[in-house]
Amino acid sequence: MARLELSSNEAACELKPVEQPSSAVPLVVHFENVTKTYDAGTSRAFTAIRDVTFAIEDKAGIGEFIGVLGPSGCGKSTVLRLIAGLAPQHPATTGSVLVHGQPVEEPGPDRGFVFQDYANFPHRTVLENVEFGLECAHVPEKERRERAREWIQKVGLDAVKDAGKYPHQLSGGMNQRVAIARSLIMHPKIILMDEPFGALDPTTRYRMQDLLVSLWRELEATVFFITHDVSEAVYLGDRVFLFSSAPGTIVHQLHVAPPDRPARQMQNEPGFLESVRQVRALMEKVDVENGGKEAAS
Ligand SMILES: Nc1ncnc2c1ncn2[C@@H]1O[C@H](COP(=O)(O)OP(=O)(O)OP(=O)(O)O)[C@@H](O)[C@H]1O
Ligand SMILES: [Mg+2]
Repeated sequence: MARLELSSNEAACELKPVEQPSSAVPLVVHFENVTKTYDAGTSRAFTAIRDVTFAIEDKAGIGEFIGVLGPSGCGKSTVLRLIAGLAPQHPATTGSVLVHGQPVEEPGPDRGFVFQDYANFPHRTVLENVEFGLECAHVPEKERRERAREWIQKVGLDAVKDAGKYPHQLSGGMNQRVAIARSLIMHPKIILMDEPFGALDPTTRYRMQDLLVSLWRELEATVFFITHDVSEAVYLGDRVFLFSSAPGTIVHQLHVAPPDRPARQMQNEPGFLESVRQVRALMEKVDVENGGKEAAS
């Protein structure tokens, strides 16, 4: 696996090697040679990911933001669901999936998942959706309502006017805010986001990116964020994982500049656009190499 660093300041963008994490540093998430074959041992057996290996270090007071890019069907959701411990992706067929040094056995409140389709409960109001996790954790009603209202405000919704609405009364962007609040109210140390902004218009998307950056800084969580939008991955990520087509494996890990300016501003700067161009070129190269391998096999 190639490990590269893409520094993306205004003046220049260059690729540099990235150092391997030292074995002494504790890891938040560690995949070692993880392979997932669905329906293994049957005639329908299909290997979605092969030998996926990566390590996210546990740095005091900072969570790393990982953007995940790769062609459709290369196993990105499979990787996220393995971290979450969600079946049938979990368990891996071979290899080890460790979270905070322990093998993943099942989902837990330390890992929050935000799905592309929002997955809010249709029969619950905004407030009831946001407080759901606290309700499951038996937090008393008064406290959980207060905390839910706080989170409704944090994601830019109105704690009075919007709290009583049902998901079908909300726009896509509003529903996505509810889904984010519902997950982050539990203060997960790891946030798993599977194409959460895919259905949003560009302006709403910029706003959601800014919101996510500020919430991420506040929670100091490690974030895995799948997207098909190269600009989004380069903007949000500290690091970008580039997957090959199925069976997916990480072919490049790129270090990119952190999102320290508003999304709309930074994503229109020349240095940033150059980084995006370089990542696109790498993705095309991976596609061509994969196509060559498929033709030869
Ligand atoms: N439960 C399952 N049983 C059998 N095959 C599956 C299952 N889940 C996923 N797959 C297959 O594994 C491959 C990887 O799926 P996955 O959903 O992880 O891809 P992805 O990279 O997230 O794709 P996309 O970008 O389209 O969301 C696909 O070919 C998919 O059809
Ligand atoms: Mg997917």
